[in-house]
Amino acid sequence: MLNPVYKAHHSPCPTARSPFETDLIACLEGAIHQISPKYFYDDEGSRLFDQICGLPEYYVTRTEIGILERDIAAMAACMGADAEVVEFGAGSLQKAKLLIDALEQPRRFVAVDISGEHLHRAASQLRNRFPGVDIVPLVEDFTGIDTLSLPPLLQDSGRRVGFFPGSTLGNFTPIEARSFLKSAARLLAGGGLLIGVDLVKDPRRLHAAYNDAAGVTAAFNRNLLARANRELDAGFNLDAFEHYAFYHPVLQRMEMHLICLEPQHVCVGGREFVLQAGESIHTENSHKYTVEGFQALAKDCGFLPKAVWLDPDRLFSVHWLASPRTHGKGEVQ
Ligand code: AVJ
Repeated sequence: MLNPVYKAHHSPCPTARSPFETDLIACLEGAIHQISPKYFYDDEGSRLFDQICGLPEYYVTRTEIGILERDIAAMAACMGADAEVVEFGAGSLQKAKLLIDALEQPRRFVAVDISGEHLHRAASQLRNRFPGVDIVPLVEDFTGIDTLSLPPLLQDSGRRVGFFPGSTLGNFTPIEARSFLKSAARLLAGGGLLIGVDLVKDPRRLHAAYNDAAGVTAAFNRNLLARANRELDAGFNLDAFEHYAFYHPVLQRMEMHLICLEPQHVCVGGREFVLQAGESIHTENSHKYTVEGFQALAKDCGFLPKAVWLDPDRLFSVHWLASPRTHGKGEVQ
């Protein structure tokens, strides 16, 4: 257990905490140390994630791009002409290029990502490539989907379509996924959501994907603590944490942990915490779905699963979920 020690501090005006600081304190305070994987993605973390996407063991990105390249025309047809696209967790916008290329006269492309510098770099590249499309980078946390400051629709008859590739939904627990999808169905009423979802598979393959030989995933995982040292001067001894990733077949998810190897003191927001050897900081869940399981979930949340595309090895799925205009006030338009 961690023993928070309150340091004497008589500052008359305590400085405002960043969300990262607040959540890291809650993580270290709790009996179970858990923190959202969204904090991986500072500039360094986004760079490491892009490196993961190219690893031989990490089949996810390559497989999804293969599916998109093969079937993007059919996907774009589902989204329709004059679409106002919102991408959740846009990252390096590599997949956005494929989609925008295939869409018929997209009106606007809003790229939401928490990693500001990374997003702005990617967005200006995208602007050069598609000078006719209104590319709008939005540096916000899309987990708060109901409070995103999206630009209003360009016309009353307009509709939004969502793009949520990469199996990022997997980071949500089933309860969180449900609430995200319900909000998404409302936001995208009259349009729909194109979403990439990683599938359940041989645990050995999953294990390899999150335990790559080059150690990039380990560095990505440790970057959460490195970031805490950089931004919050927390004083984690990074060498004393082991990257530990495993598949939980009942919960159908990969879990990533950082296991503390020797006792250490850290300090966050003026508070001291002790971590004992063997204690874990749980940094990520990555849920895997069956096609049927995911479609049932989507349906439950107000979507109509209309199409699904798979790679030949059935490693990954891309779904088109239509959202009928029956949300919100409950009237059919
Ligand atoms: C971006 C959440 C889809 O869960 O596979 C990659 C992040 N973590 N390697 C995933 C990740 C470890 C990735 N997602």
